[in-house]
Amino acid sequence: MSVSTVTKDKKSVRAPSVFDIPGETGMPLFGHTFKMLKDPVSLGAYMRRKYGDVYRSYSFFRHSVSMHGPEANEFLLMDREKNFSSEMGWNPYLGRLFPRGLMLLDFNEHKGHRHIMATAFKTGPMKGYLERLNAEMPKRIAEWGKTGSFQFYAAIKKLSLDMATTVFLGLDPDTDSSKINKALTDMVSASMGIVRVPLPGTIMARGVKGRKFMVNFLMQEIPKRRGIEQSDIFSQLCNAEDDDGNSFSDQEIVDHMIFLWMAAHDTVTSSVTTLVYELGKSPEWQEKLRGEIKALGLNSDSLPYEKINDLVLTEYAFKESLRKNPPVPATPRMTVRDVEFMGHTLPKGTIVGVSAVASHRDPDVWDDPDKFDPMRFSPEGGAKTRHRFAWIPFGGGAHMCLGLHFAYMQTKVIMAHLLPHYDIELPKNYQTEFQIMPIIKPVDGLPITLKARA
Ligand code: HEM
Repeated sequence: MSVSTVTKDKKSVRAPSVFDIPGETGMPLFGHTFKMLKDPVSLGAYMRRKYGDVYRSYSFFRHSVSMHGPEANEFLLMDREKNFSSEMGWNPYLGRLFPRGLMLLDFNEHKGHRHIMATAFKTGPMKGYLERLNAEMPKRIAEWGKTGSFQFYAAIKKLSLDMATTVFLGLDPDTDSSKINKALTDMVSASMGIVRVPLPGTIMARGVKGRKFMVNFLMQEIPKRRGIEQSDIFSQLCNAEDDDGNSFSDQEIVDHMIFLWMAAHDTVTSSVTTLVYELGKSPEWQEKLRGEIKALGLNSDSLPYEKINDLVLTEYAFKESLRKNPPVPATPRMTVRDVEFMGHTLPKGTIVGVSAVASHRDPDVWDDPDKFDPMRFSPEGGAKTRHRFAWIPFGGGAHMCLGLHFAYMQTKVIMAHLLPHYDIELPKNYQTEFQIMPIIKPVDGLPITLKARA
């Protein structure tokens, strides 16, 4: 324990230490790492019962402090006093493979980059992405229908990668993007590996190789995209300018693209999977969503941009599945100064975090938290009166997910093309377990059957 002293009013005052915060270190060397990977929800509930809403634990070779409850979520995410670094919080997990992605920038620099990137998510570009999604979806979903019974997680992962090829890169989705897809998935897997150095044969070594491939690929493409109007995210970033005419350098485009891709891919894969799981368990909600989609009277199932907000029940259902299973289970930060919160001092340089998955399943906040009840998100279901930081699947504050409207849009497009034609069926008496870390997914891949509707 480091104990330094400062002179104040001639008294010796001990510097705050993370060990002043109640908690425990867990088993030798690895601390809580394995429990954190296996069942972070039970671990969090146990620690909270024992030590309260602010507690210290040890995982991934570091001490960290967890903060619980909507007020803690607001305090950390809004960060009104600029106490917390997102870069330093995420760096141990993402720094090696996704350096200088938007979430790994802080304060003024972050703000400047976010302004430029936000131009790629305005209405005009979003309409272009939607066209690409609508164009590709029918044949992909028809292929699912022909297969009948399959593992949904693998299928939606493939669909998301194919969509990323067209929407993110502007390439024909039928081009062979297997090398790109492999590089991306290797990077994502490596970001949560326990071995953090790229020793030969490790997933980190594969992740580093994947990044090198992606950097080379994107760098050689940039000159072809500058000055060209094209409706994919890569071309948009190559030409993005904020109101003052600031734009990204080649290296910045590469770093942002690689990060964006990671940020979008596994999150959408995870959230559409859990929505399909909930709908499979609830034929009643399936029917409600189907009715809402059919009522739009779509032409060839294509969802026009102007109709996206009309899918109100679909949005409630998506929000509710994000509540039960938020793809990003926890959000880390590092204190940049000593910070006071709820009677505790979090010393400068401490890793602190809030947990979406714990917040979303907290029985003090949500009635019957295990129940799938999309109407919680209706105005009469409590959406207006609940603490606005009780539900944080997209974070909040300066780093709030920049792609959240994209996520809603892509999910609604998938539902609009899927539900009018198929019933989603799960095996009889089906129960699955969800792996929580690093991203929520069903351990058995979610076996489903799509039954064609007459
Ligand atoms: C359901 C799907 C998604 C979920 C649950 C999700 C969740 C999140 C969360 C929790 C954060 C904030 C992390 C923090 O504060 O440290 C975040 C940031 C971000 N997300 Fe998403 N995300 C999703 C989809 C997407 C998509 C589709 C894109 C892009 C097309 C995207 C792009 C980003 C970016 C750029 C940031 C960083 C924002 C910043 O630091 O200013 N996300 N996301």
